[in-house]
Amino acid sequence: MRILLLSHAFNSLTQRLWLELEADGHDLSLEYDINDATTRKAVAMFAPDLILAPFLKRAVPADVWQATRTLIVHPGPSGDKGPSALDHAVQEGRGIWGVTVLEARDEMDAGPVWAQHPFAMRAATKSSLYRREVTEAAVTAVRMALARIEEGLWPLQPANTGREDAKPPMTQAMRRIDWARMTGAEILARIRAADGQPGVRDEICGHEVWLHDAHEAGATPLARLTPGDIAGQANEAILRRTVDGAIWIGHLTIRLDGRRLKLPATRALEVLGLDAPPEIAGPDAPNGVRTERLGPVAVIRFPFLNGAMSVTRSRKLAEAIREAGDARVILLTGGPEFWCNGIDLATIEAAHSPGEESLAAIEAIDDVCLALLETSGWTMAAMAGNAGAGGVFMALAADEVAARRGVVLNPHYKNMGNLYGSEYWTYTLPRRLGPEGAAALMDTRMPLLARQAAKTGLVDRVIGGSPGDFEAAMIERAAALAAGPELDAMIGAKHARRAADQAARPLSDYRAEELRRMRLNFFGFDTSYHVARLNFITAVPKSRTPLHLARHRQVRRVAAAE
Ligand code: COA
Repeated sequence: MRILLLSHAFNSLTQRLWLELEADGHDLSLEYDINDATTRKAVAMFAPDLILAPFLKRAVPADVWQATRTLIVHPGPSGDKGPSALDHAVQEGRGIWGVTVLEARDEMDAGPVWAQHPFAMRAATKSSLYRREVTEAAVTAVRMALARIEEGLWPLQPANTGREDAKPPMTQAMRRIDWARMTGAEILARIRAADGQPGVRDEICGHEVWLHDAHEAGATPLARLTPGDIAGQANEAILRRTVDGAIWIGHLTIRLDGRRLKLPATRALEVLGLDAPPEIAGPDAPNGVRTERLGPVAVIRFPFLNGAMSVTRSRKLAEAIREAGDARVILLTGGPEFWCNGIDLATIEAAHSPGEESLAAIEAIDDVCLALLETSGWTMAAMAGNAGAGGVFMALAADEVAARRGVVLNPHYKNMGNLYGSEYWTYTLPRRLGPEGAAALMDTRMPLLARQAAKTGLVDRVIGGSPGDFEAAMIERAAALAAGPELDAMIGAKHARRAADQAARPLSDYRAEELRRMRLNFFGFDTSYHVARLNFITAVPKSRTPLHLARHRQVRRVAAAE
Protein backbone atom coordinates (compact mmCIF):
# COMPACT_ATOMS: atom_id res chain seq x y z
CA MET A 1 0.00 0.00 0.00
CA ARG A 2 1.02 3.60 -0.46
CA ILE A 3 0.86 5.01 3.04
CA LEU A 4 1.27 8.64 3.95
CA LEU A 5 2.30 9.10 7.58
CA LEU A 6 0.84 12.30 8.98
CA SER A 7 2.53 13.14 12.26
CA HIS A 8 3.30 16.02 14.59
CA ALA A 9 6.93 14.83 14.71
CA PHE A 10 9.11 11.96 13.56
CA ASN A 11 9.05 10.62 17.11
CA SER A 12 10.04 7.16 18.28
CA LEU A 13 6.65 5.58 17.52
CA THR A 14 6.46 7.16 14.06
CA GLN A 15 10.02 5.99 13.31
CA ARG A 16 9.27 2.47 14.44
CA LEU A 17 6.08 2.28 12.36
CA TRP A 18 7.83 3.69 9.30
CA LEU A 19 10.59 1.09 9.56
CA GLU A 20 8.31 -1.87 10.26
CA LEU A 21 5.81 -1.00 7.53
CA GLU A 22 8.53 -0.37 5.00
CA ALA A 23 10.07 -3.75 5.88
CA ASP A 24 6.60 -5.25 5.26
CA GLY A 25 6.79 -3.91 1.70
CA HIS A 26 4.63 -0.77 1.92
CA ASP A 27 5.55 2.42 0.07
CA LEU A 28 5.90 5.23 2.59
CA SER A 29 6.20 8.97 2.77
CA LEU A 30 5.65 11.41 5.62
CA GLU A 31 4.32 14.91 6.09
CA TYR A 32 4.44 16.78 9.38
CA ASP A 33 1.05 18.07 10.50
CA ILE A 34 1.93 21.71 9.92
CA ASN A 35 -1.34 23.09 8.55
CA ASP A 36 -4.33 21.85 6.54
CA ALA A 37 -3.05 23.21 3.24
CA THR A 38 0.26 21.36 3.60
CA THR A 39 -1.57 18.13 4.41
CA ARG A 40 -3.83 18.52 1.38
CA LYS A 41 -0.83 19.19 -0.85
CA ALA A 42 1.00 16.12 0.45
CA VAL A 43 -2.06 13.93 -0.17
CA ALA A 44 -2.40 15.34 -3.69
CA MET A 45 1.28 14.72 -4.45
CA PHE A 46 1.58 11.23 -2.98
CA ALA A 47 -1.94 9.98 -3.77
CA PRO A 48 -1.80 7.47 -0.90
CA ASP A 49 -4.08 4.47 -0.49
CA LEU A 50 -4.20 5.31 3.17
CA ILE A 51 -3.14 8.00 5.64
CA LEU A 52 -1.76 6.81 8.97
CA ALA A 53 -1.51 9.25 11.87
CA PRO A 54 0.65 7.83 14.68
CA PHE A 55 1.08 11.07 16.65
CA LEU A 56 -1.23 14.03 16.09
CA LYS A 57 -2.10 16.99 18.28
CA ARG A 58 -5.18 18.11 16.33
CA ALA A 59 -7.92 16.84 14.06
CA VAL A 60 -7.39 15.82 10.43
CA PRO A 61 -9.36 18.11 8.03
CA ALA A 62 -12.69 16.51 7.05
CA ASP A 63 -12.13 16.79 3.30
CA VAL A 64 -8.88 14.80 3.71
CA TRP A 65 -10.37 11.84 5.60
CA GLN A 66 -13.49 11.90 3.45
CA ALA A 67 -11.36 11.42 0.32
CA THR A 68 -8.68 9.09 1.70
CA ARG A 69 -9.12 6.58 4.50
CA THR A 70 -7.26 7.98 7.50
CA LEU A 71 -6.27 5.78 10.43
CA ILE A 72 -5.46 7.29 13.82
CA VAL A 73 -3.31 5.47 16.37
CA HIS A 74 -4.91 6.16 19.74
CA PRO A 75 -2.94 5.25 22.90
CA GLY A 76 -5.95 3.89 24.72
CA PRO A 77 -8.17 0.79 24.57
CA SER A 78 -11.24 0.58 22.40
CA GLY A 79 -13.91 2.99 23.69
CA ASP A 80 -11.36 5.41 25.17
CA LYS A 81 -11.20 8.92 23.75
CA GLY A 82 -9.41 12.17 24.33
CA PRO A 83 -6.00 13.79 23.96
CA SER A 84 -4.55 12.82 27.37
CA ALA A 85 -5.39 9.12 27.26
CA LEU A 86 -2.18 7.79 28.75
CA ASP A 87 -1.86 10.60 31.29
CA HIS A 88 -5.25 9.70 32.79
CA ALA A 89 -4.51 5.97 32.70
CA VAL A 90 -1.24 6.37 34.61
CA GLN A 91 -2.63 8.84 37.13
CA GLU A 92 -5.66 6.60 37.79
CA GLY A 93 -3.46 3.53 38.16
CA ARG A 94 -5.25 1.44 35.48
CA GLY A 95 -4.16 -2.20 35.36
CA ILE A 96 -4.82 -2.96 31.69
CA TRP A 97 -4.55 -0.46 28.88
CA GLY A 98 -4.21 -0.69 25.12
CA VAL A 99 -3.86 0.87 21.69
CA THR A 100 -6.71 1.33 19.22
CA VAL A 101 -6.45 2.05 15.51
CA LEU A 102 -9.53 3.94 14.40
CA GLU A 103 -10.69 5.85 11.39
CA ALA A 104 -10.89 9.65 11.45
CA ARG A 105 -14.36 11.16 11.73
CA ASP A 106 -15.78 14.58 12.71
CA GLU A 107 -15.76 13.72 16.40
CA MET A 108 -12.21 13.05 17.68
CA ASP A 109 -11.43 9.36 18.37
CA ALA A 110 -15.03 8.35 17.63
CA GLY A 111 -14.64 6.70 14.21
CA PRO A 112 -14.79 3.02 13.21
CA VAL A 113 -12.34 0.77 15.07
CA TRP A 114 -10.05 -1.26 12.79
CA ALA A 115 -7.90 -2.92 15.43
CA GLN A 116 -7.05 -2.87 19.10
CA HIS A 117 -4.33 -4.44 21.18
CA PRO A 118 -4.29 -4.57 24.98
CA PHE A 119 -1.30 -4.54 27.33
CA ALA A 120 -0.70 -4.77 31.07
CA MET A 121 0.35 -1.49 32.66
CA ARG A 122 3.65 -1.19 34.54
CA ALA A 123 4.37 1.20 37.40
CA ALA A 124 6.31 3.54 35.12
CA THR A 125 6.29 6.97 33.55
CA LYS A 126 3.97 7.85 30.70
CA SER A 127 6.93 8.18 28.34
CA SER A 128 8.35 4.82 29.36
CA LEU A 129 5.00 3.15 28.70
CA TYR A 130 4.72 5.03 25.41
CA ARG A 131 8.16 3.94 24.21
CA ARG A 132 7.69 0.32 25.23
CA GLU A 133 4.16 -1.10 25.65
CA VAL A 134 2.32 1.48 23.52
CA THR A 135 4.85 1.23 20.70
CA GLU A 136 4.78 -2.58 20.60
CA ALA A 137 0.96 -2.62 20.77
CA ALA A 138 0.73 0.06 18.07
CA VAL A 139 2.92 -1.92 15.67
CA THR A 140 0.73 -4.98 16.20
CA ALA A 141 -2.56 -3.06 15.95
CA VAL A 142 -1.55 -1.17 12.81
CA ARG A 143 -0.51 -4.42 11.13
CA MET A 144 -3.87 -5.96 12.11
CA ALA A 145 -5.75 -2.95 10.74
CA LEU A 146 -3.85 -3.00 7.43
CA ALA A 147 -4.44 -6.73 7.07
CA ARG A 148 -8.21 -6.24 7.54
CA ILE A 149 -8.27 -3.46 4.98
CA GLU A 150 -6.20 -5.42 2.46
CA GLU A 151 -8.53 -8.39 2.86
CA GLY A 152 -11.52 -6.13 2.18
CA LEU A 153 -13.09 -6.73 5.60
CA TRP A 154 -15.28 -4.36 7.63
CA PRO A 155 -13.97 -2.55 10.70
CA LEU A 156 -14.12 -4.42 14.02
CA GLN A 157 -16.69 -1.91 15.31
CA PRO A 158 -18.60 0.74 13.33
CA ALA A 159 -17.76 3.41 15.92
CA ASN A 160 -15.44 3.80 18.92
CA THR A 161 -18.14 3.72 21.61
CA GLY A 162 -18.90 1.70 24.68
CA ARG A 163 -16.86 3.30 27.41
CA GLU A 164 -16.95 6.66 29.14
CA ASP A 165 -17.18 9.99 27.35
CA ALA A 166 -13.97 11.56 26.07
CA LYS A 167 -11.70 12.54 28.93
CA PRO A 168 -10.71 16.21 28.93
CA PRO A 169 -7.14 17.28 28.26
CA MET A 170 -5.23 16.90 31.52
CA THR A 171 -4.46 20.30 32.99
CA GLN A 172 -1.88 21.34 35.57
CA ALA A 173 -4.76 21.80 38.05
CA MET A 174 -5.51 18.06 37.71
CA ARG A 175 -1.85 17.23 38.18
CA ARG A 176 -1.28 19.49 41.20
CA ILE A 177 0.66 18.08 44.14
CA ASP A 178 -0.36 18.85 47.69
CA TRP A 179 2.81 18.00 49.60
CA ALA A 180 1.10 18.46 52.99
CA ARG A 181 -1.54 15.84 52.26
CA MET A 182 -0.51 13.43 49.50
CA THR A 183 1.47 10.27 50.12
CA GLY A 184 4.68 9.52 48.25
CA ALA A 185 2.82 6.98 46.10
CA GLU A 186 0.19 9.55 45.08
CA ILE A 187 2.88 12.10 44.22
CA LEU A 188 4.83 9.51 42.23
CA ALA A 189 1.71 8.61 40.21
CA ARG A 190 1.15 12.28 39.35
CA ILE A 191 4.71 12.91 38.25
CA ARG A 192 4.82 9.67 36.28
CA ALA A 193 1.57 10.59 34.50
CA ALA A 194 3.17 13.85 33.36
CA ASP A 195 6.62 12.54 32.34
CA GLY A 196 8.46 13.36 29.98
CA GLN A 197 6.05 16.20 29.04
CA PRO A 198 4.74 18.49 30.46
CA GLY A 199 5.93 17.59 33.97
CA VAL A 200 4.06 18.64 37.13
CA ARG A 201 4.17 22.34 37.89
CA ASP A 202 5.42 23.07 41.39
CA GLU A 203 7.39 25.67 43.29
CA ILE A 204 10.81 25.54 44.89
CA CYS A 205 11.87 28.56 46.99
CA GLY A 206 9.46 30.78 45.06
CA HIS A 207 10.63 29.59 41.63
CA GLU A 208 8.28 27.92 39.17
CA VAL A 209 9.55 24.44 38.26
CA TRP A 210 8.13 21.32 36.59
CA LEU A 211 8.93 18.01 38.28
CA HIS A 212 10.17 14.93 36.39
CA ASP A 213 11.96 11.65 36.87
CA ALA A 214 10.53 10.80 40.31
CA HIS A 215 11.57 7.63 42.13
CA GLU A 216 10.75 5.98 45.41
CA ALA A 217 13.35 6.52 48.12
CA GLY A 218 14.17 4.04 50.86
CA ALA A 219 13.92 4.86 54.56
CA THR A 220 15.67 8.13 55.37
CA PRO A 221 15.67 10.01 58.72
CA LEU A 222 13.81 13.20 57.82
CA ALA A 223 11.83 13.86 60.98
CA ARG A 224 12.65 17.55 61.26
CA LEU A 225 11.66 18.43 57.71
CA THR A 226 8.28 19.59 56.41
CA PRO A 227 6.72 17.71 53.46
CA GLY A 228 8.03 19.24 50.21
CA ASP A 229 11.37 20.24 51.77
CA ILE A 230 14.59 19.21 50.06
CA ALA A 231 16.59 16.87 52.28
CA GLY A 232 19.72 16.51 50.15
CA GLN A 233 21.16 15.47 46.81
CA ALA A 234 22.80 12.46 45.18
CA ASN A 235 23.63 11.92 41.47
CA GLU A 236 22.30 15.44 40.78
CA ALA A 237 18.84 14.33 42.00
CA ILE A 238 17.12 15.93 44.99
CA LEU A 239 15.40 14.10 47.81
CA ARG A 240 12.10 15.67 48.91
CA ARG A 241 10.21 14.89 52.06
CA THR A 242 6.66 13.52 51.75
CA VAL A 243 4.15 12.95 54.56
CA ASP A 244 5.12 9.28 54.68
CA GLY A 245 8.78 9.25 53.62
CA ALA A 246 10.61 10.82 50.70
CA ILE A 247 10.98 10.68 46.93
CA TRP A 248 13.82 11.44 44.55
CA ILE A 249 13.30 14.04 41.82
CA GLY A 250 15.90 13.49 39.12
CA HIS A 251 15.08 16.37 36.78
CA LEU A 252 13.40 19.77 36.86
CA THR A 253 12.22 21.92 34.00
CA ILE A 254 12.88 25.61 34.57
CA ARG A 255 12.45 28.76 32.56
CA LEU A 256 15.67 30.40 31.48
CA ASP A 257 15.64 33.49 29.25
CA GLY A 258 12.32 32.46 27.72
CA ARG A 259 13.37 28.84 27.15
CA ARG A 260 12.01 25.86 29.07
CA LEU A 261 14.92 23.57 29.89
CA LYS A 262 14.75 20.14 31.52
CA LEU A 263 17.90 19.74 33.57
CA PRO A 264 19.36 17.45 36.22
CA ALA A 265 17.69 18.73 39.39
CA THR A 266 20.77 20.17 41.12
CA ARG A 267 21.91 21.81 37.90
CA ALA A 268 18.46 23.43 37.65
CA LEU A 269 18.74 24.75 41.23
CA GLU A 270 22.18 26.15 40.43
CA VAL A 271 20.89 27.92 37.31
CA LEU A 272 18.08 29.41 39.44
CA GLY A 273 20.73 30.70 41.86
CA LEU A 274 19.58 28.48 44.76
CA ASP A 275 21.86 26.88 47.33
CA ALA A 276 23.05 23.36 46.64
CA PRO A 277 21.42 20.83 49.00
CA PRO A 278 23.83 18.76 51.08
CA GLU A 279 25.28 15.58 49.54
CA ILE A 280 23.68 12.50 51.04
CA ALA A 281 23.96 8.78 50.45
CA GLY A 282 21.72 7.84 47.54
CA PRO A 283 21.92 4.16 46.77
CA ASP A 284 18.51 4.41 45.09
CA ALA A 285 18.92 7.88 43.56
CA PRO A 286 18.25 7.90 39.78
CA ASN A 287 20.83 8.53 37.04
CA GLY A 288 23.71 6.86 38.85
CA VAL A 289 26.45 4.69 37.38
CA ARG A 290 26.47 1.37 39.23
CA THR A 291 28.87 -1.52 38.85
CA GLU A 292 27.91 -5.04 39.86
CA ARG A 293 30.63 -7.68 40.02
CA LEU A 294 29.56 -11.16 39.03
CA GLY A 295 32.83 -13.05 39.36
CA PRO A 296 34.95 -12.24 36.31
CA VAL A 297 32.14 -10.12 34.78
CA ALA A 298 31.58 -6.45 35.63
CA VAL A 299 28.09 -5.20 34.75
CA ILE A 300 28.06 -1.40 34.52
CA ARG A 301 24.61 0.17 34.43
CA PHE A 302 24.09 3.81 33.44
CA PRO A 303 20.33 4.42 33.02
CA PHE A 304 20.53 8.18 32.40
CA LEU A 305 17.24 9.94 31.73
CA ASN A 306 16.74 10.30 27.98
CA GLY A 307 20.17 8.73 27.42
CA ALA A 308 21.75 12.17 27.67
CA MET A 309 25.44 12.34 28.59
CA SER A 310 26.42 15.51 30.42
CA VAL A 311 30.07 16.15 31.30
CA THR A 312 29.44 14.92 34.86
CA ARG A 313 27.70 11.72 33.76
CA SER A 314 30.26 10.84 31.11
CA ARG A 315 33.09 11.32 33.59
CA LYS A 316 31.42 8.97 36.06
CA LEU A 317 30.92 6.35 33.39
CA ALA A 318 34.50 6.61 32.11
CA GLU A 319 35.74 6.24 35.69
CA ALA A 320 33.58 3.16 36.26
CA ILE A 321 34.92 1.53 33.08
CA ARG A 322 38.53 2.22 34.10
CA GLU A 323 37.86 0.92 37.62
CA ALA A 324 36.45 -2.31 36.19
CA GLY A 325 39.53 -2.74 34.01
CA ASP A 326 40.61 -5.99 35.75
CA ALA A 327 37.36 -7.79 34.82
CA ARG A 328 37.57 -10.45 32.09
CA VAL A 329 34.34 -9.14 30.59
CA ILE A 330 32.74 -5.72 31.02
CA LEU A 331 29.05 -5.51 30.12
CA LEU A 332 27.61 -2.02 29.70
CA THR A 333 23.86 -1.44 29.87
CA GLY A 334 22.09 1.92 29.49
CA GLY A 335 18.44 2.61 30.29
CA PRO A 336 15.45 0.51 29.21
CA GLU A 337 14.08 3.26 26.95
CA PHE A 338 17.34 4.71 25.73
CA TRP A 339 20.81 3.23 25.63
CA CYS A 340 22.30 6.65 24.91
CA ASN A 341 21.51 9.73 22.81
CA GLY A 342 24.95 11.31 22.88
CA ILE A 343 25.93 14.54 24.58
CA ASP A 344 23.36 16.22 26.84
CA LEU A 345 22.01 19.06 24.74
CA ALA A 346 19.94 20.47 27.60
CA THR A 347 22.86 21.12 29.97
CA ILE A 348 24.68 22.59 26.97
CA GLU A 349 21.75 24.90 26.27
CA ALA A 350 21.80 26.06 29.91
CA ALA A 351 25.54 26.81 29.92
CA HIS A 352 27.02 30.32 29.76
CA SER A 353 28.98 29.27 26.69
CA PRO A 354 27.14 26.49 24.83
CA GLY A 355 30.13 26.17 22.48
CA GLU A 356 32.58 25.53 25.33
CA GLU A 357 30.13 23.22 27.10
CA SER A 358 29.60 21.26 23.86
CA LEU A 359 33.34 20.78 23.53
CA ALA A 360 33.65 19.69 27.17
CA ALA A 361 30.75 17.24 26.71
CA ILE A 362 32.32 15.76 23.57
CA GLU A 363 35.70 15.40 25.27
CA ALA A 364 33.98 13.66 28.19
CA ILE A 365 32.02 11.19 26.02
CA ASP A 366 35.17 10.59 23.96
CA ASP A 367 36.87 9.62 27.23
CA VAL A 368 34.15 7.01 27.79
CA CYS A 369 34.86 5.60 24.32
CA LEU A 370 38.62 5.71 24.91
CA ALA A 371 38.23 3.87 28.21
CA LEU A 372 36.32 1.16 26.32
CA LEU A 373 38.79 1.01 23.45
CA GLU A 374 41.70 0.71 25.89
CA THR A 375 40.13 -1.91 28.16
CA SER A 376 42.25 -5.03 28.10
CA GLY A 377 39.35 -7.43 28.79
CA TRP A 378 36.37 -8.10 26.50
CA THR A 379 33.77 -5.30 26.36
CA MET A 380 30.09 -5.67 25.48
CA ALA A 381 27.52 -2.95 24.82
CA ALA A 382 23.94 -4.07 25.51
CA MET A 383 21.41 -1.71 23.92
CA ALA A 384 18.09 -2.49 25.59
CA GLY A 385 16.70 0.86 24.45
CA ASN A 386 16.92 3.17 21.44
CA ALA A 387 20.05 5.10 20.61
CA GLY A 388 20.81 8.18 18.60
CA ALA A 389 23.80 10.09 17.26
CA GLY A 390 26.89 9.81 19.48
CA GLY A 391 25.09 7.25 21.63
CA VAL A 392 25.19 4.71 18.80
CA PHE A 393 28.87 5.36 18.17
CA MET A 394 29.70 5.12 21.85
CA ALA A 395 28.43 1.53 21.69
CA LEU A 396 30.70 0.79 18.74
CA ALA A 397 33.73 1.41 20.96
CA ALA A 398 32.91 -1.93 22.63
CA ASP A 399 34.17 -5.21 21.20
CA GLU A 400 30.71 -6.63 20.87
CA VAL A 401 27.42 -4.79 20.37
CA ALA A 402 23.99 -6.28 20.98
CA ALA A 403 20.60 -4.64 20.60
CA ARG A 404 17.18 -5.67 21.79
CA ARG A 405 14.67 -6.56 19.06
CA GLY A 406 12.49 -3.52 18.33
CA VAL A 407 15.23 -1.02 19.19
CA VAL A 408 15.47 1.91 16.77
CA LEU A 409 18.89 3.38 16.05
CA ASN A 410 19.67 6.77 14.55
CA PRO A 411 23.33 6.25 13.62
CA HIS A 412 24.13 9.68 12.22
CA TYR A 413 24.79 13.22 13.42
CA LYS A 414 23.59 15.33 10.53
CA ASN A 415 20.09 15.90 11.89
CA MET A 416 21.58 18.01 14.67
CA GLY A 417 22.66 20.93 12.48
CA ASN A 418 25.15 18.96 10.39
CA LEU A 419 27.33 17.95 13.32
CA TYR A 420 30.45 16.14 12.17
CA GLY A 421 30.44 13.83 15.19
CA SER A 422 33.16 12.33 17.36
CA GLU A 423 33.19 9.30 19.72
CA TYR A 424 35.98 7.85 17.50
CA TRP A 425 33.38 7.03 14.83
CA THR A 426 35.94 7.60 12.09
CA TYR A 427 37.85 4.64 13.57
CA THR A 428 35.07 2.30 14.70
CA LEU A 429 32.50 2.68 11.91
CA PRO A 430 34.68 1.83 8.89
CA ARG A 431 36.01 -1.16 10.88
CA ARG A 432 32.45 -2.52 10.85
CA LEU A 433 31.01 -1.29 7.56
CA GLY A 434 34.05 -0.49 5.42
CA PRO A 435 34.76 3.09 4.28
CA GLU A 436 31.93 3.21 1.75
CA GLY A 437 29.38 1.66 4.09
CA ALA A 438 30.38 4.15 6.77
CA ALA A 439 30.05 7.13 4.44
CA ALA A 440 26.67 5.90 3.17
CA LEU A 441 25.32 5.42 6.68
CA MET A 442 26.45 8.87 7.76
CA ASP A 443 24.65 10.36 4.79
CA THR A 444 21.23 8.80 5.28
CA ARG A 445 19.69 10.73 8.22
CA MET A 446 17.26 7.80 8.56
CA PRO A 447 16.64 5.49 11.51
CA LEU A 448 17.35 1.78 11.40
CA LEU A 449 15.77 -1.21 13.15
CA ALA A 450 18.09 -3.36 15.25
CA ARG A 451 17.59 -6.32 12.91
CA GLN A 452 18.54 -4.17 9.90
CA ALA A 453 21.61 -2.92 11.78
CA ALA A 454 22.60 -6.54 12.44
CA LYS A 455 22.33 -7.35 8.72
CA THR A 456 24.79 -4.59 7.83
CA GLY A 457 27.20 -5.48 10.64
CA LEU A 458 26.58 -2.29 12.58
CA VAL A 459 25.58 -4.45 15.57
CA ASP A 460 26.58 -8.04 16.20
CA ARG A 461 23.43 -9.62 17.58
CA VAL A 462 19.76 -8.97 18.24
CA ILE A 463 17.98 -10.55 21.20
CA GLY A 464 14.23 -10.34 21.85
CA GLY A 465 12.22 -9.98 25.04
CA SER A 466 11.68 -7.22 27.56
CA PRO A 467 14.61 -5.00 28.62
CA GLY A 468 14.91 -7.21 31.72
CA ASP A 469 15.00 -10.44 29.66
CA PHE A 470 17.50 -8.86 27.31
CA GLU A 471 19.83 -7.85 30.15
CA ALA A 472 19.56 -11.31 31.71
CA ALA A 473 20.45 -12.92 28.36
CA MET A 474 23.44 -10.60 27.99
CA ILE A 475 24.68 -11.34 31.51
CA GLU A 476 24.37 -15.04 30.75
CA ARG A 477 26.38 -14.61 27.57
CA ALA A 478 29.04 -12.53 29.36
CA ALA A 479 29.37 -15.16 32.10
CA ALA A 480 29.58 -18.00 29.56
CA LEU A 481 32.24 -16.13 27.60
CA ALA A 482 34.24 -15.38 30.73
CA ALA A 483 34.16 -19.04 31.75
CA GLY A 484 34.59 -20.48 28.26
CA PRO A 485 37.69 -21.52 26.33
CA GLU A 486 37.46 -19.03 23.43
CA LEU A 487 37.78 -15.80 25.37
CA ASP A 488 41.60 -15.82 25.59
CA ALA A 489 41.88 -16.17 21.83
CA MET A 490 39.28 -13.42 21.29
CA ILE A 491 41.14 -11.07 23.61
CA GLY A 492 44.46 -11.99 22.00
CA ALA A 493 43.09 -11.19 18.53
CA LYS A 494 41.65 -7.93 19.82
CA HIS A 495 45.01 -6.83 21.25
CA ALA A 496 46.84 -7.75 18.06
CA ARG A 497 44.36 -5.80 15.93
CA ARG A 498 44.43 -2.80 18.25
CA ALA A 499 48.24 -2.75 18.20
CA ALA A 500 48.30 -2.94 14.40
CA ASP A 501 45.64 -0.23 14.09
CA GLN A 502 47.49 1.96 16.58
CA ALA A 503 50.72 1.59 14.62
CA ALA A 504 48.91 2.54 11.40
CA ARG A 505 47.18 5.55 12.93
CA PRO A 506 47.00 6.33 16.65
CA LEU A 507 43.61 6.81 18.31
CA SER A 508 44.71 10.30 19.38
CA ASP A 509 44.93 11.19 15.72
CA TYR A 510 41.35 10.12 14.98
CA ARG A 511 40.16 12.09 17.99
CA ALA A 512 42.13 15.21 17.12
CA GLU A 513 40.74 15.26 13.58
CA GLU A 514 37.14 14.68 14.72
CA LEU A 515 37.49 17.45 17.32
CA ARG A 516 38.96 19.82 14.75
CA ARG A 517 35.81 19.34 12.67
CA MET A 518 33.58 19.61 15.77
CA ARG A 519 35.20 22.90 16.77
CA LEU A 520 33.97 24.28 13.45
CA ASN A 521 30.43 23.15 14.41
CA PHE A 522 30.76 24.72 17.87
CA PHE A 523 32.67 27.93 17.13
CA GLY A 524 32.65 28.35 13.33
CA PHE A 525 30.79 30.65 10.98
CA ASP A 526 27.99 28.10 10.38
CA THR A 527 25.69 28.24 13.42
CA SER A 528 23.36 25.42 12.27
CA TYR A 529 24.19 23.22 15.25
CA HIS A 530 23.32 25.94 17.78
CA VAL A 531 20.04 26.67 15.99
CA ALA A 532 19.16 22.96 15.65
CA ARG A 533 19.98 22.32 19.33
CA LEU A 534 17.79 25.19 20.53
CA ASN A 535 14.90 24.04 18.29
CA PHE A 536 15.27 20.45 19.48
CA ILE A 537 15.58 21.16 23.19
CA THR A 538 12.74 23.68 23.25
CA ALA A 539 10.63 21.46 20.92
CA VAL A 540 9.94 24.22 18.40
CA PRO A 541 7.06 23.01 16.20
CA LYS A 542 8.09 21.93 12.72
CA SER A 543 7.56 24.37 9.89
CA ARG A 544 8.44 22.03 7.00
CA THR A 545 9.05 18.36 6.40
CA PRO A 546 12.60 17.45 5.38
CA LEU A 547 12.97 15.83 1.98
CA HIS A 548 14.38 12.57 3.25
CA LEU A 549 10.97 11.98 4.90
CA ALA A 550 8.65 13.82 2.47
CA ARG A 551 9.53 11.49 -0.36
CA HIS A 552 6.58 12.77 -2.36
CA ARG A 553 8.41 16.07 -2.60
CA GLN A 554 11.64 14.58 -3.91
CA VAL A 555 12.27 15.86 -7.43
CA ARG A 556 13.23 12.40 -8.69
CA ARG A 557 9.91 11.02 -7.55
CA VAL A 558 7.82 13.92 -8.86
CA ALA A 559 9.58 13.69 -12.25
CA ALA A 560 8.95 9.95 -12.44
CA ALA A 561 5.26 10.45 -11.66
CA GLU A 562 4.97 13.02 -14.42
N1 COA B 1 20.33 15.64 25.14
C1 COA B 1 19.31 16.06 25.94
N2 COA B 1 18.06 15.60 25.83
C2 COA B 1 17.83 14.69 24.87
C3 COA B 1 18.82 14.22 24.02
C4 COA B 1 20.13 14.72 24.18
N3 COA B 1 21.14 14.31 23.41
N4 COA B 1 18.28 13.32 23.16
C5 COA B 1 16.97 13.23 23.50
N5 COA B 1 16.71 14.08 24.52
C6 COA B 1 15.41 14.30 25.19
C7 COA B 1 14.41 15.02 24.31
O1 COA B 1 14.55 16.41 24.42
C8 COA B 1 13.11 14.52 24.90
O2 COA B 1 12.87 15.24 26.08
P1 COA B 1 11.39 15.51 26.63
O3 COA B 1 10.93 14.21 27.19
O4 COA B 1 11.61 16.54 27.66
O5 COA B 1 10.56 15.97 25.48
C9 COA B 1 13.44 13.10 25.31
O6 COA B 1 14.85 13.03 25.41
C10 COA B 1 13.03 12.08 24.30
O7 COA B 1 13.54 12.47 23.04
P2 COA B 1 12.65 12.42 21.75
O8 COA B 1 13.37 13.17 20.68
O9 COA B 1 11.25 12.80 22.07
O10 COA B 1 12.73 10.85 21.50
P3 COA B 1 12.56 10.06 20.19
O11 COA B 1 12.66 8.65 20.59
O12 COA B 1 11.33 10.50 19.48
O13 COA B 1 13.82 10.44 19.26
C11 COA B 1 16.22 10.70 18.82
C12 COA B 1 15.09 9.90 19.51
C13 COA B 1 17.54 10.07 19.21
C14 COA B 1 16.02 10.63 17.30
C15 COA B 1 16.16 12.17 19.22
O14 COA B 1 15.97 12.25 20.62
C16 COA B 1 17.42 12.94 18.90
O15 COA B 1 17.64 13.29 17.75
N6 COA B 1 18.25 13.26 19.92
C17 COA B 1 19.42 14.07 19.78
C18 COA B 1 20.62 13.25 19.40
C19 COA B 1 21.81 14.16 19.21
O16 COA B 1 21.87 14.88 18.25
N7 COA B 1 22.75 14.14 20.16
C20 COA B 1 23.83 15.06 20.18
C21 COA B 1 24.95 14.74 19.26
S1 COA B 1 25.93 13.43 19.88
